[in-house]
Amino acid sequence: MALELAYVLVTPYSLSKSRTGGILARLLTRSGCDLVATRMFAPGAELIREYSEQIVTASDPQDRSTQETLRDYVRRQFAPDTRTGRRRRVLMLLFQGEDAVRRVRSVVGNLAPRFVSGDTIRGTFGDYVTNADGDVTYFEPAVLAAPTAEEAQTKLRLWARYSNSDGGIISDSIAYPPDTTPQRTLVLVKPDNFRAAAGRPGSVLDFFSRTGLYLTGTRLIHLSTAQALQFYGPVRDALRTRLNTFVGAECRKILTSHPEFAFNLPPTVESQLGQLLGPLYGEHRFENLVRFMSGRSERECPVAELDQPGTEPCLAVVYEGPDAVAKCRDVLGPTDPGQAPRGTIRREFGSSILVNAAHASDSVEAARREIAIVRPEEDDLVRVLSSVWGA
Ligand code: CMP
Repeated sequence: MALELAYVLVTPYSLSKSRTGGILARLLTRSGCDLVATRMFAPGAELIREYSEQIVTASDPQDRSTQETLRDYVRRQFAPDTRTGRRRRVLMLLFQGEDAVRRVRSVVGNLAPRFVSGDTIRGTFGDYVTNADGDVTYFEPAVLAAPTAEEAQTKLRLWARYSNSDGGIISDSIAYPPDTTPQRTLVLVKPDNFRAAAGRPGSVLDFFSRTGLYLTGTRLIHLSTAQALQFYGPVRDALRTRLNTFVGAECRKILTSHPEFAFNLPPTVESQLGQLLGPLYGEHRFENLVRFMSGRSERECPVAELDQPGTEPCLAVVYEGPDAVAKCRDVLGPTDPGQAPRGTIRREFGSSILVNAAHASDSVEAARREIAIVRPEEDDLVRVLSSVWGA
């Protein structure tokens, strides 16, 4: 069976309730499909008009009145606020796999009035409440996903047409109180999460819900070796210069544990060993870091391939809100997972000082620099669609 592309749209309400991590974890663990792109939208009136016209279809297993309720919901809740003109955030997750549309849709589930169950995403995160007369009193679908491969194609093509104008890093979609100055920060859900249990990237995102920040941009990226070198450039000097004492002490331990070298090593010699080998050790750690993030260190990568996308997936997320930098660093925990307190991402998911689950910018300036390298605004949707379906 050919590989299919299936999309899931996370509603503005699910996003504002920080349900994204839970939703993503379910999709990753239960659909058996690969996440191939993510894109944040702030859809304009035109996109929502066209999209809502495509919602009621004969191929949808939900009854017509449910589909009409869904269409009206999209017109009300996805389109820009009619009072303020403010656009809302909608997150697109794109999956690829055999029979992806059917699989993804079965994880999403169908909407039915008065039916309460938690076995699907809509069952857990959505609501469809009617009164005794059958009138809908509360409706929240949590996510939208196409029922058939044909519909998935049509709707994906539509969203792709607006991807450049309506997608990217969203600004002005949050109404802050007048005295707040929001910050922007960048989080990377690192490659180790994509190798471990399937749902891990979603679980890591779910930890960030504690910050109460707003997700305003996201991109599934494969960092090139050049990008990893640039991103971690400031760490390189620190690793080369700050590990001398540690390396000197390690040298003493290694040498004195060997019977031939178990003689007295004066502190000055330990310090000289640290000065001699510390920078080399730091450089070795930096190489490991670049390889971990992109797949190849600078030495392993031919110059002509430095800018090519690497082999390691990484989920870049832009968070916005008051004190965004400090809040993300707080929930992340210190660099070394062994030092991280309970309840932090690195304590929960990190394995070592290198393989430490996630990154978060350490200042607003660093966030700006790192965002410029990772480019979460870049339009991968159109690229992925044309690589799978042709132009
Ligand atoms: P991160 O928060 O992404 O920013 C810098 C990264 O460098 C850090 O996480 C670690 O992955 C890595 N790093 C920092 N210190 C060390 C170290 N002493 N040894 C190996 N890697 C390190």
